[in-house]
Amino acid sequence: VANPSDNPAWNDELLKDPHAVADKRRRVREMFAAIAPSYDFNNRLHSFGRDQAWRVKAVELSELKPTDVVVDVACGTGDLAMKYAIALITGWGVPRDQRGDFKTAEPSNPCVIGIDYTYPMLQRALVKDREMIDEIDTPSDDDLWRGKCTWVNGDAMALPLPDACADVVSIAFGIRNVQDPAVALKEFYRVLKPGGRLIILEFSQPRNRLIRWCNDLYCAKIMPHTATWLSGDKSGAYKYLPMSVKTFIDRDRMSSMMTDAGFGDVTQHPLTFGVCVVYRGRKEER
Ligand SMILES: C[S@@+](CC[C@H](N)C(=O)[O-])C[C@H]1O[C@@H](n2cnc3c(N)ncnc32)[C@H](O)[C@@H]1O
Repeated sequence: VANPSDNPAWNDELLKDPHAVADKRRRVREMFAAIAPSYDFNNRLHSFGRDQAWRVKAVELSELKPTDVVVDVACGTGDLAMKYAIALITGWGVPRDQRGDFKTAEPSNPCVIGIDYTYPMLQRALVKDREMIDEIDTPSDDDLWRGKCTWVNGDAMALPLPDACADVVSIAFGIRNVQDPAVALKEFYRVLKPGGRLIILEFSQPRNRLIRWCNDLYCAKIMPHTATWLSGDKSGAYKYLPMSVKTFIDRDRMSSMMTDAGFGDVTQHPLTFGVCVVYRGRKEER
């Protein structure tokens, strides 16, 4: 990885439309490698703690079953993957009337596969996974957690997985970052079993004008400065963030891309005034 201060991944010219940049894939990876150590801290702070609630909502919407295999693509430091693992062990995050099924289910390992192509992000995930074992008091729970998550270095556009192996594929704040989202969506379809669900959590532009204005002000004028300062980032990551949201495909286009990739029953679930959206699609049984 090049030293980002010599040659930042993003500059103002490239940020006019980061999705059109030919080597976006390389630049995005360089940027996440640079901000990996402070990624979680900046997420919590600049979303006012909402980011974890958005991930919980993503788990809730995935119609999880106790024996499900979950593939979390672009897993980064593992926040969503670990929420899935907790849900599969305890039933936490699934509707109350179904939680009992989770507590009595036979444990299966591993059941959550986190995939990312930025090694320093995966390293953070691994550390957090191990810290979780230290936090668990009872040895039986310890055994349940151990090996629940597997962390794999791989690309969303060419997943290192066989066809029809997953019940849920999720991607949180990742689809916007891949070079070609349509290719990634086809990969997600390929690895899902018939009946499997795709869950996409992504930033969006609020439809209410006033809220959108306030959100733009915060995302373009305040957050880039505070986040850059706090992380000491030189890669341009926190300028890329608002510009990549602003220039990304809109909600309806995302839904139609999911349909084009083969998904049925595509729905949108706006969160926090539409700052984020969970998209859900299903690989239909044939
Ligand atoms: C904003 S972070 C999201 C991380 C995590 N999902 C979360 O909720 O915090 C985006 C992640 O996408 C990963 N990513 C971007 N493009 C990717 C690709 N083509 N294949 C795999 N991972 C990718 C980056 O390495 C980064 O870790």
